[in-house]
Amino acid sequence: MLSKRNILVTGGAGFIGSHTVVELVKSGFTPYIVDDFRNADKSVIARLDKLTGVKIPVISIDICDKKKLFDELSSIEFTGVIHFAAYKAVGESVDEPLKYYHNNVIGTLNVIQFCNEKQIKNFVFSSSCTVYGEPKEDKAVSESDSTYNANSPYGFTKVVCEQMLRDVHTSGDPLKILVLRYFNPIGAHQTGLIGEAPIGKPNNLIPYVTQTAAGIHEKLTVFGNDYETSDGTCKRDYIHVCDLADAHVKALEFLIAKDAALLEFVNIGTGTPTSTLEVITIFERVSGQKLNWEFGPRRSGDVMEIYANADKAIGLLGWKARYSVEDAVRDAWNWQLKQHDEI
Ligand code: UFG
Repeated sequence: MLSKRNILVTGGAGFIGSHTVVELVKSGFTPYIVDDFRNADKSVIARLDKLTGVKIPVISIDICDKKKLFDELSSIEFTGVIHFAAYKAVGESVDEPLKYYHNNVIGTLNVIQFCNEKQIKNFVFSSSCTVYGEPKEDKAVSESDSTYNANSPYGFTKVVCEQMLRDVHTSGDPLKILVLRYFNPIGAHQTGLIGEAPIGKPNNLIPYVTQTAAGIHEKLTVFGNDYETSDGTCKRDYIHVCDLADAHVKALEFLIAKDAALLEFVNIGTGTPTSTLEVITIFERVSGQKLNWEFGPRRSGDVMEIYANADKAIGLLGWKARYSVEDAVRDAWNWQLKQHDEI
């Protein structure tokens, strides 16, 4: 394989990272996973090898350890970096903000410095719609909307990293940068070989739904029923993780084809809002299971409704979501049923 196709994937063993690794291999890239497995199970590597038919190189280090990062990776020639590795639990970030600023900001700083020193020109950054906070009138947010309203320290670590990239770009650095702002990634690979595997009790809706249906939890609590939405529950833009993975490959190919430094921010969502109650109905339909759930109080920090204006991704990257929420929920359920199978 030509070295020009080598891609460094920090956090490549995680939920979005692992699905992106599969898409990278499919598109002829050689992904190098850098992950210290603090939030991912090591078995994902054997699963990726099986799924791709390739032995994926893995470097097990903490990217916050700059010396190790440079020592372990300096001999490899990379065309690009996709930087996922970060903490992402909103609630935990409120309790332990410094842990979040340390890991997410220092990790990003080190990876940018690595690109700078090794003259790697193509950089895709994993950001989040959380940077928009609670949208004002229009719930379909655009890339030009204000991003200084994040609702949590986690959200602000993304705002800070985005600002760091803006400043790097303004300084005349040759890096070509795409910042992808994800909406709510859900689902799993259609094979059921990889998926979302939260350690401990899940914070997010879909793994909580599938684990409840599988009997791991007694009941799902729907946080709040008095929001000003059509059914009183929050609305989100749920996007299939395989669509999201595809967006990363398109982003990388877009960057590689460009000659000059650039910086773009792109929403990666479907453009369609779905309420929590609608998700439950969809789950019951695709799984044929009745879900045990009840209403509970609002969860603090929850945004009422947010979804993507996804036009820029189509225009700039030629990317558009192909899968529906139904597809994603069905694949998440398939993964729930298969995830403990021998591989
Ligand atoms: N929800 C429940 N019960 C649960 C879990 C979630 O009702 O047990 C509801 C939430 O209140 C929310 C919706 O389901 O209305 C989605 O919640 P998630 O926790 O799945 O997702 P969030 O939208 O809160 O957060 C996600 C990511 C963050 C990211 C954020 C951006 O987890 O990393 O989207 O909006 F920053």
